[in-house]
Order: sequence, then structure tokens, then C-alpha cells
Amino acid sequence: AQHIPDILSPEFAADPYPVYRLMREHRPLIWHEPTRSYLVSRYEDVERAFKDKESVFTTDNYDWQLEPVHGKTIVQLSGREHAVRRALVAPAFRGSDLRDKFLPAIERNSRELIDAFRHKGEADLVDSFATRFPVNVIADMLGLHKADHARFHGWYTAVVAYFGNLAGDPEVAAAGERTRVEFADYMIPIIRERRENLGDDLLSTLCAAEVDGMRMSDEDIKAFCSLLLAAGGETTDKAIAGLFANLLADPDQLAAVGEDRSLIDRAFAETLRFTPPVHMIMRQTSAEVTVSGGTIPAGATVTCLIGAANRDAERYRDPDRFDIFRDDLDATTAFSAAAGHLAFALGRHFCVGALLARAEVETGVNQLLDAMPDLRPADGFVPHEDGLFTRGPKYLPLRFTPVAD
Ligand code: HEM
Repeated sequence: AQHIPDILSPEFAADPYPVYRLMREHRPLIWHEPTRSYLVSRYEDVERAFKDKESVFTTDNYDWQLEPVHGKTIVQLSGREHAVRRALVAPAFRGSDLRDKFLPAIERNSRELIDAFRHKGEADLVDSFATRFPVNVIADMLGLHKADHARFHGWYTAVVAYFGNLAGDPEVAAAGERTRVEFADYMIPIIRERRENLGDDLLSTLCAAEVDGMRMSDEDIKAFCSLLLAAGGETTDKAIAGLFANLLADPDQLAAVGEDRSLIDRAFAETLRFTPPVHMIMRQTSAEVTVSGGTIPAGATVTCLIGAANRDAERYRDPDRFDIFRDDLDATTAFSAAAGHLAFALGRHFCVGALLARAEVETGVNQLLDAMPDLRPADGFVPHEDGLFTRGPKYLPLRFTPVAD
């Protein structure tokens, strides 16, 4: 039988894509003892799990994955409870609200970060921009005090470390769990105060939201804001860094995007397919199900390998090639539930923040390209990605000629 390296092996960590290919082609369904889950790698199987309306594939397993840090959040909910919660939060992330209310915050936060390094002629895009921009935007959208942004970023860092803690470091685990308490102590009084003085910010929108006479409790809102740290921060962070890493590896495509900024959407969509920020999402089966000829019993955890599915040759031509001009991925629908890739999942839990991510990426990439028109990798740069569940460039040192304002 074909040897397939383990997803916890150094070989996989260095480059998961050849391993994903072996899985898709030879063992599209694998029982994985260390994670006690079934690994599923083909596009059609992952798509089916995401689109399933909870007849078999549920999100119940998020209770143990997310609850210790965030409390009960929207991703754990199902059925009508989820539909109501989704209807409560989704309007704030739709196109018109985003443009009218939040574009200025997105533009401001991108500009502030770029201004801090644009005169230097060099920067690590990951450390100086990507890891900071989306989380600053969320804090700003929520209407938190600027002086608190650093604390907010600290919780973000602890949460990201918690979910990336494969080695099971007890201190990292404890720090992650502590954020649940610290974050609640910080947020709950702000939420109560905001209910009395509604403003224009996202927190006010969440406080005022009402669907069928139902509203969110202080605890619900706190949990949602906590979820946004990871769901909206780390993902967009890795998408921006990944987009630049992919373009830098192909100077012709970088030049094309530099000249025609309307191609940023295509570059983002193709980045989501080629190097998705979220590589794996888990589901739990409520009944026995057949997948790629094998059987998964009821009550099992299923690890849906987005990173593998998005490179399935049954779905995409020449899948291992980063090509912003490919015609089998439609950038006009890539940020909606009609997405032709799986990076935002699909179905009921399709990413609520997809349009926000797109607005952040469009703004951030545009401003970065303006500030560093001749950007290139720093001398001796060796690309390096890391992460298992979420994955992206670890650093991205750039050089560029500073431009005068
Ligand atoms: C859900 C990816 C940006 C908020 C999801 C899911 C994925 C995902 C894969 C599905 C989880 C599941 O089905 O179990 C991404 C990627 C992003 C991104 C790749 C950036 C490139 C954002 C942003 C926000 C956000 C900017 C908000 C600030 C959410 C929320 C959910 C979600 C609240 C849960 C939706 C539900 O359960 O109904 N995202 N996300 N995401 N995302 Fe995103």
C-alpha cells in the first residue's frame, strides 16, 4: 500500500500539498488515530460535508474545540437556533453596511500600519502588517478605545497560540483559557454601557439586533466578539500574507496586479483556493455515512481537509499552479455562498465575514502596492509556511524603494 506521511509529521509540516495529493488519489478516507478523526480530502466529499443540512454532518464537536476559549458561539449552534443567531449578526457584515460604516476604519487602520514602515525601505509584511491589520480593524469596528487595542491584540495572540498548540504546552493552553475570563471581564461592562448609549459601531449593532423578538445576551455578544478574534483575525492575516507570498513567487502576476488593481479580487480568490488560511474544519456525524467508498460510523469526528480539496484535479485544471487568470474559479462569486472554492466553507456556516475579508484585502493590498511599488523579497529570503489547522507564511521580509507622499 502507498505510504502516506502523517499530518502530524515534519514532512507534512514542511509541505502538506504532496501529502494531500497522495490522500486524494490513494486513500480519500483515512482513520487518524492521533486526532481520533476521519480525514477526508476530495473536493466532492468536503463540499458534501459542508453543504449537508445537518442530516449527517453537524458542528457539535466545536463544543470541545472552541468552548474553553470563546464560550458558546454561533459556529457550535445548529438548526433554528443557528438560523436566528446568524440572522442577528449577518446584517452587520453585508456589503452596504460594510461600505457605509466600516470602510473608513479599514482604510485608517491599514494606513496607520503602513505609515510606520513605509519610509524604511524594508519590512516583514507578516509582523508589521498582516498579523495586526485585521485584529485592529475588528477592535475599531467594535468601537473599542484605541488605548485598548494593544490588550485586544494580546488576547488575539494568546488565542491564536492556543489553537496552534499542537505540542500541548500547558502554559500556552492556560494562557488561552485565561483569555476567556479576562476578555469577559473587559467586554461585559463595555457591552452593558453600550446598551445604554447606542452608537454607530458594530457593538451597538449587535446590542440592538432583534429577530423574531429575540436578542443576544451580554454573554452571547461577548462570545461572538471573542470568536471574531480568531475567525476574523487570524484568517485574514494569513490570507494577506499568502496573497503576497504567492504573487512574489511569480513576478509576472505581481506586475499584472500592480498595474490593474481590479485583479486583486482574482488574486485573493486564487490565494484562498491555492493556500487557504484554514486548512481543516471538523464536523461530527450524527449517522453512519459512506464517503469515497468507505464507512464513517455515527458519532465520529470528521476532519475536512480544505487544503487538499482545493487542489483536487477533479475540480481544478493544473491545481498546483497559482494562476489568478484561471477560468475554473470565478472571482465574482468567490466571496459568496456560491464560492467555487472551500476556503470559507459552504452551506449554513459559510463564513459570515467573507465580504469584510474582501474589503480588508482590497484596501490593504491596494495601499501596500501604492506604498511599495517595486516590492521584492529581501535578499536571501526563503519562503516558510507553518501551521496545521490554519497555515500561512511565518515571515515575509520585503525590500522596496520608499516613495515620497
Ligand atoms: C465561519 C474562513 C474571515 C467571521 C468561517 C468558516 C471558515 C471561515 C472556513 C466556516 C467554519 C465552519 O463551518 O465550521 C475564513 C477565512 C477568512 C475569514 C479564510 C479570511 C480570508 C472572517 C472575518 C470574519 C469572520 C473577517 C469577521 C470579522 C466568521 C464567523 C463564522 C465564520 C462569525 C461563523 C459563521 C457561522 O457559524 O454561521 N470562516 N473566515 N471570518 N467566519 Fe470566517
